Amino acid sequence: MTHFLDIHKTSPEDLRAMIDQGIAMKQARGDRPKGAPDDTQPLAGRMVALIFEKPSTRTRVSFDVGVRQMGGQTMVLSGSDMQLGHGETIADTARVLSRYVDLIMIRTFEEETLLEMAEYASVPVINGLTDRTHPCQIMADVMTYEEHRGPIKGKKVVWSGDGNNVCASFLHAAGQFGFDFTFTGPPQLDPEGEWLEFARSKGVQAVIERDPVKAVAGADLIVTDTWVSMHDPESAKERRHNQLRGYQVNETLMAHANPDALFMHCLPAHRNDEVTSAVMDGPQSVIFDEAENRLHAQKAVMRHCLGV
Ligand code: CP
Ligand code: NVA
Repeated sequence: MTHFLDIHKTSPEDLRAMIDQGIAMKQARGDRPKGAPDDTQPLAGRMVALIFEKPSTRTRVSFDVGVRQMGGQTMVLSGSDMQLGHGETIADTARVLSRYVDLIMIRTFEEETLLEMAEYASVPVINGLTDRTHPCQIMADVMTYEEHRGPIKGKKVVWSGDGNNVCASFLHAAGQFGFDFTFTGPPQLDPEGEWLEFARSKGVQAVIERDPVKAVAGADLIVTDTWVSMHDPESAKERRHNQLRGYQVNETLMAHANPDALFMHCLPAHRNDEVTSAVMDGPQSVIFDEAENRLHAQKAVMRHCLGV
């Protein structure tokens, strides 16, 4: 069974093959209409369940469109509409769904839910974001960096802000793809030590630098994300803003990075909180390519899981 649960649980060779396949499939499609099928239909006859226990725009639409372009069918399920949201166990849900569908993508809260789904499903399970990680996002981000600037190996990526689920998957990618990673943010919001250790164990630099200006020196890519994630309590908002104000990505901060540094954000963004509109809409920003590449990278992830 080939699940896609996290970047650090997938081999560097498989990750590389998925990135390369995503780029090749994107190029092969050219500019044909979004609803037009791909030339090859590797998901013909396959049914894919997309389960959401949290809101989503990009993950929901990109998976749905990607399956259809490859000839498969989808059903989008909201956790609260399923018996899963009313007391049925994850294990029973996994075993039942496996009798109807060929692949499950789930966006959920606790990582435990994802892991239990994968343990009891007899079909592959893909992580569409948990409180702890967001691997599909970083596949798209690596693909986007390489499309614009060539190999990410050996580059310096700087994360400014909350050391959250997206930051965690970036640290995993640093280890697996071989790039250096600097986190800059307040100590209360550091990424988990385990993730820093993972990257270091693969021989790359994974460091914390409290001063954002020092952190971005020599950076090839600057990344941020919302200051308050979907799993964070609403009550955290004011405190987070106070803690993170100094870590906003703005034109002044960008000017301290390498002149050809790119800017990324997984979106949705809170304009003029974690990043200014000037940066989001500026020449170094690749945020909409990043969003598009969710589609192409995930198509490769699904083919990898299904072995097609
Ligand atoms: N980046 C991302 O996962 O976006 P959605 O929450 O819209 O799916
Ligand atoms: N860190 C954000 C990512 C959204 C795609 C969240 O979990 O809400």
